[in-house]
Amino acid sequence: MCGIVGYIGEKNAKDIIIAGLKTLEYRGYDSSGIAFVDNGKIDVYREVGRITNLEDLIKDVPIAHLGIGHTRWATHGKPSKENSHPHTSMNKMITLVHNGVIENYVEIKNDLVAKGYTFSSETDTEVIANYLEEEYKKTNDMKQAIVNMMNDLHGAYALGILCADQQDALYCVKNKTPMLAGVGTGFNMIGSDAMAMIKETNKFIEINDLEFLIVTKDKINIFDKEGNSINRDAFISNVNATDINLGTFPHYMLKEINEQPTVIRTLLSKYLCDGKLNIDQELYQQIEQADRLYIIASGTSMHAGLVGKYLIEELAKKPVEVHLGSEFGYHLPLISEKPLFIFITQSGETADSRVALQLVKQQGYKALTITNVEGSTLSREADYTLLLHAGPEIAVASTKAYVAQVTLLALLANALADNPIDMNLELNKVNVAIDDIISRKEQIEKLVKDKVITSRNCFYLGRNLDYYVALEAALKLKEISYIQTEGFASGELKHGTIALIEKGTPVIGLITQEKIALNTRSALQEVKAREATTIIIAQKKVANNDDDFIIENTHHLLSPLALVVVGQLIAYYAALLKGYDIDKPRNLAKSVTVE
Ligand code: AGP
Ligand code: GLU
Repeated sequence: MCGIVGYIGEKNAKDIIIAGLKTLEYRGYDSSGIAFVDNGKIDVYREVGRITNLEDLIKDVPIAHLGIGHTRWATHGKPSKENSHPHTSMNKMITLVHNGVIENYVEIKNDLVAKGYTFSSETDTEVIANYLEEEYKKTNDMKQAIVNMMNDLHGAYALGILCADQQDALYCVKNKTPMLAGVGTGFNMIGSDAMAMIKETNKFIEINDLEFLIVTKDKINIFDKEGNSINRDAFISNVNATDINLGTFPHYMLKEINEQPTVIRTLLSKYLCDGKLNIDQELYQQIEQADRLYIIASGTSMHAGLVGKYLIEELAKKPVEVHLGSEFGYHLPLISEKPLFIFITQSGETADSRVALQLVKQQGYKALTITNVEGSTLSREADYTLLLHAGPEIAVASTKAYVAQVTLLALLANALADNPIDMNLELNKVNVAIDDIISRKEQIEKLVKDKVITSRNCFYLGRNLDYYVALEAALKLKEISYIQTEGFASGELKHGTIALIEKGTPVIGLITQEKIALNTRSALQEVKAREATTIIIAQKKVANNDDDFIIENTHHLLSPLALVVVGQLIAYYAALLKGYDIDKPRNLAKSVTVE
């Protein structure tokens, strides 16, 4: 989760590391810290809360040329100064930062305690620092100490390590948690993603699991877990430093909601050529020849997968199953004769989906990853990748990635259809509808103020495609406004959940599909009779004049793309009006890299 930045070189490590950590803030964190090597000793600074607190703490620290920084998302021990990283070994030889979780830390800790080591935090991370100190004491060789560590340590870890004895080297280890090396002239870096280093360099080297680096200001040496040297070329990233600027928007979430029409246009230009789907032929054949598609994803990406299933089954008449990464990884369903597995993940780093991908690969099946992050772990480990081209998504609440995922799945479904839709035309209508919604966003703000934030809980109702959007809209609202919200298939309400409806409970009805419009309206009547406060969001062709918000017409199969934008804005305004941190909601991380 959260992030690591390390720098060694001629410039001031402090400024570069702090700037890098700020770009990683979007991943979610509760505390941060930094360590510098200065004249034979390592100085460590840590603070809970925002990075600006850490900045205040280090404002008088002199220039340093080697350092590591960290944002922590607590897994072992509460968010506190003592538990924040960097952690230093008992005799101060090793200082390190860690992202991930060590599974066998209790065992290792007990061994170290028996050898006389003491601990000052509740983290699994401090165990690694003391373990390395012990191995370094025995071998007098950091490289060997790291090889021994990789043999004994189980779990997920990205590490940035400083050794007090070595003023000109930065060590870095990676296993099952993201980490990348940045290549410069007169400096080198490590970071959790390219954005953390993009202000300094656009040249990167991938690090695979169970590899480690010794980084000096002029060289990056890569080793496998036995300590054998590995050669790997650097690549130039197309991430653009200006993509991560907020511009004139008050929040990244609002900026990203506004970018959605552009994202749809970009996908049309990348994937449609003269009306034909423009993807790798081998991948196209895999999709076409598969007798069943298995979509695996988590959270918002899973909700996009549900819409994708509907579209592929309707348009391409091919059966699709949608599974949660966290469930699939530990129970394989019965698999058809010619399956194709599709992993949908904005970040390309979600640990739950990665466990499932590894299982699928072990069984010898082919896998496609649909992701927004080029070179991400799930992209590298799958046989094929399709990029979402949405640009960096910074807000923790995913918006434009969902729209990109649904758009791309629609393009795939349409390419396999006997009677395809004119996607250029229909997606342009979607864009008109989205622009219209955004231009009337104050109307949504008023609805939220009058009818949503007045309650501690809320329901979204819909059927068919509207139900899948209800799930996504409910996730958005709960994750940033902390209003307990559920998305329901409106027909299911009377089978139990209606018992929760009381006077004033907000119930938001989503109605875009002609064939079930009346059914959802009856469900809304039932809750109204129990004094719920209803809000009806409908598409023009099925709308009544007194509905609360009316959306321009689009093709019925593409209606989730515009409808979801209303849900995103409802969530945005609920969080805004309640005064919450919209882009960095509590307890959440952008890349969920631990299971
Ligand atoms: C939704 O807004 C996110 N907070 C979360 O549910 C996310 O969609 C999920 O963690 C999956 O992430 P991924 O797409 O990067 O795999
Ligand atoms: N498991 C470590 C801790 O709780 C690292 C958490 C992280 O990835 O930030 O401190």
